[in-house]
Amino acid sequence: MVFKRSFSTHQDTHSDGTSSAMLIRQGIVVDHLEEKKADVLIVDGKIADISETISSYPEETRIIDASGLYVMPGGIDVHTHFNIDVGIAKSCDDFYTGTRAAACGGTTMVVDHMGFGPRGCNLHHQLSVYKEYAKDTAVIDYSFHGVIQHINDEILAEMASMVEVEGISSFKLYLTYGYKLDDESVLRALTQLNKVNALTTVHPENDAAITLRRNQLLDEGKTAPKYHAQSRPLECEAEAIARMINLAKLADNAPLYIVHLSNGLGLDYVRLARQNHQPVWAETCPQYLLLDESCYERDDALKFILSPPLRPVEEREKLWQGLIDGSIDTVATDHCSFTYLDQKQRGKDNFSACPNGLPGVENRMPLLFSEGVMSGRMSPSRFVELTSYMPAKLFGMFPQKGNMAKGSDADLVLFDPKQQITITHDLLHDNTDYTPYESMQCLGWPIMTISHGQVVACNGEFMGEAGNGRFVRRQPFSR
Ligand code: URP
Ligand code: ZN
Ligand code: ZN
Repeated sequence: MVFKRSFSTHQDTHSDGTSSAMLIRQGIVVDHLEEKKADVLIVDGKIADISETISSYPEETRIIDASGLYVMPGGIDVHTHFNIDVGIAKSCDDFYTGTRAAACGGTTMVVDHMGFGPRGCNLHHQLSVYKEYAKDTAVIDYSFHGVIQHINDEILAEMASMVEVEGISSFKLYLTYGYKLDDESVLRALTQLNKVNALTTVHPENDAAITLRRNQLLDEGKTAPKYHAQSRPLECEAEAIARMINLAKLADNAPLYIVHLSNGLGLDYVRLARQNHQPVWAETCPQYLLLDESCYERDDALKFILSPPLRPVEEREKLWQGLIDGSIDTVATDHCSFTYLDQKQRGKDNFSACPNGLPGVENRMPLLFSEGVMSGRMSPSRFVELTSYMPAKLFGMFPQKGNMAKGSDADLVLFDPKQQITITHDLLHDNTDYTPYESMQCLGWPIMTISHGQVVACNGEFMGEAGNGRFVRRQPFSR
């Protein structure tokens, strides 16, 4: 890979370890509303000024020539699974390799979905486990979504302190997998989370339909990886989305966030809810925008086993339409990585034994920039809205994050719209042995990532440090 732009890699820090000043000159500065040519001054990790030209700055300021580059808020990926133990395997990216890859892809914060803890554990249990995982390893800022494994009076009572004391203002519940909730538990969770100003996020798939179909396929000897998608067709997901929307309405109109939306029928239910002024938001992921079920015909189909699965090709365009018309609010990755040559092979003779999930945390920003902005489907501002501003707004980080304004964290990404890069796994910084996006061409590439005013990645090289990422205490959810 050839990078056309060179920057000095010199990094100034004061003797007390705080970052010194940086002036990013004459870039195209983009936020969720507009783009304009401007200088950006960073002092001590915060944006200190954004003006047409800045001529007054501290003595030791590092100057970055950003002419021709987009200067944007760093990406916020609100759906990763680092260090997750799914019972049959532990994901191969931890908070070091996962956030390192994120940083190299232009992302400056992740909100990780914590995995399930021991049966019966309370909400704080997984939080302390995950804080330990990330504390000395994360290279960029992070938070976690709470995980709800069961509902009882103690769990409901615990929710308020998770939000108010711990700064965990979103929770995920599952309608399938081992800790799926029944309708009564879902209603109780939604009602209480609404009361304590938290956002409920959901993995929506109809467990009974999946179980029935999976068992039928396996009984018929249809065990090859390609049958994974047939075991959970899009109606399984869409039905669960519609059900969750109705349950949220019944639970005092609780706010609801649909994760990893993969199909147009589910999106139609989201649209309908919003037409009815229901507070419902949706996230999709690059794999559903750019890949489709034809991947299951490949010899390496195991690489693409995730849930919801990849869909018929026509669903991709429906999701793009949702991004363009505003009915999808965020793009995250659901990065959940298992090695192809080892861990994914568990499923070679039985798709249901394959650990589910794909890597992607390093590819989200360049893929969406290339396929969204450079292809003319969306403006740079809409890109910022989907990748940073809305994640920050919905999950309680705005205006500290997702913002190009004085006082916000200097978490930025510089995109070169002229860089043409072909994605290959050897360019990437995760701990997996493949990328689902191998050989895809990107026009536009994140050539510098800045976290708290420090360069953490430049021209494909990681420059950050384990432990420099900070836990972000998020604000309560507000509409
Ligand atoms: O297959 C997937 N997506 N694995 C990660 C866990 C989840 O369902 O989000
Ligand atoms: Zn999920
Ligand atoms: Zn996930």
